[in-house]
Amino acid sequence: MPVHAIPQDALSPASPVREQRIRVWCTQLEAGGILYFPETPVLVPYADVEFLLGQQKCSSSLHKNIAYKPGRDKLSGIDEKSAGPDKVQRMHEIMRRYSSSVEAFLVEFLSPYQRRWRLDYASFRPVEEKGRDLSMRHRNDLLHTDAFPTRPTRGWRILRFFHNIHPNRTRDWVVGEPFARVVREFAPVKLALPRADGPVARAGKQFAQATGIASLVPQWKRTPYDAFMMRLHNTMKEDTAFQAGCQREEVQFASGSSWMVYTETVPHAVLGGQFALEQTFLVDPAAMVTRDSTPLEILEKMTGHVLA
Ligand code: SIN
Ligand code: FE
Repeated sequence: MPVHAIPQDALSPASPVREQRIRVWCTQLEAGGILYFPETPVLVPYADVEFLLGQQKCSSSLHKNIAYKPGRDKLSGIDEKSAGPDKVQRMHEIMRRYSSSVEAFLVEFLSPYQRRWRLDYASFRPVEEKGRDLSMRHRNDLLHTDAFPTRPTRGWRILRFFHNIHPNRTRDWVVGEPFARVVREFAPVKLALPRADGPVARAGKQFAQATGIASLVPQWKRTPYDAFMMRLHNTMKEDTAFQAGCQREEVQFASGSSWMVYTETVPHAVLGGQFALEQTFLVDPAAMVTRDSTPLEILEKMTGHVLA
C-alpha cells in the first residue's frame, strides 16, 4: 500500500522523535508514497467550509475548478457577473487564507526542505468528479502523472496537498505503479525520447530567450524534461490498453482528511468525490532527502542526456 498514515500525536512539536520521523516521511513521499492525515492538520474555519459547500447550489457561476495564484494574489474560475462582487471577494479571502495556512504547516512539517519551493496555485474543486464531461486530456478519472501545459517546472517537483471538505463522502482515487516502472513501459517505445534540438530549433530558441519573448510561448519555455513529462501525461491518458490493463490500487480519502503526494511521478486518477481544496508546491529537486529519486535523475540516467 503506498499510503502512509500520519497519526495526529506524531505532529506534536513535543514529540521527541519528531525530527527523525519527518525525515522518514520525506523519504516515503519521495519514494512515491502518499502521506495521509486522517484528520487534516490545516484547519479551515467552519464558516469558510460552509461557504464553500454552499457553492453547489449556485453552480451557474461555478462550473469548474477555482484557482488562486498566490504570487499575484489573483483568483480565477469564478464568473463575477453571475456570482456578484461580494461572493467573489469572499472566495478570494478564503483561498488566500487556505494557501497561506497550508504553506505555514508545510514550513514546519517539511522542515528538511527549508522552504526550497515555489508556492504554486491553490484550487477549490466543487464539482462531482464521477462522470464529469471533460476532453480526454483534461479528464482526471484516467490514470496520469501531472504536467502543466503552460507552466514548465524545469525539473522542479510537483507536490500537492489536498483536503476533502465534503461533510460525509470520501474522495476516491486510484494510484498506479511507481514512476520508474511506468516510465520504462512508455519510453522509448510509445514516447519519443527527448533529443537535443537541431541547429534551426536551437537558433530559434536562443533568439526567443535573448529577446525575452520565450516567456510568451509555453513550448519555448519548456526544457526537454518538460516536453517529455507533458507527452507522458497525454500518452498515459490516451493509451486505452494501459488504462484497461495497468496495475492499480484504490485509495479512499475520508471526509475531513488531507493527503499529499508528488503527482508528477505517482500515477493517479480521481473516480468520485466532491469539494476538495488543494495547494501545489514546486519543490527544488536539490532539496530532496533521497538524492537519486527525482524524475529528472531517473530520466537522465535512462536517456543519457541532460534534460533540464
Ligand atoms: C488530479 O490531480 O488528477 C485530480 C485529483 C483530485 O482532484 O482529487
Ligand atoms: Fe492529476
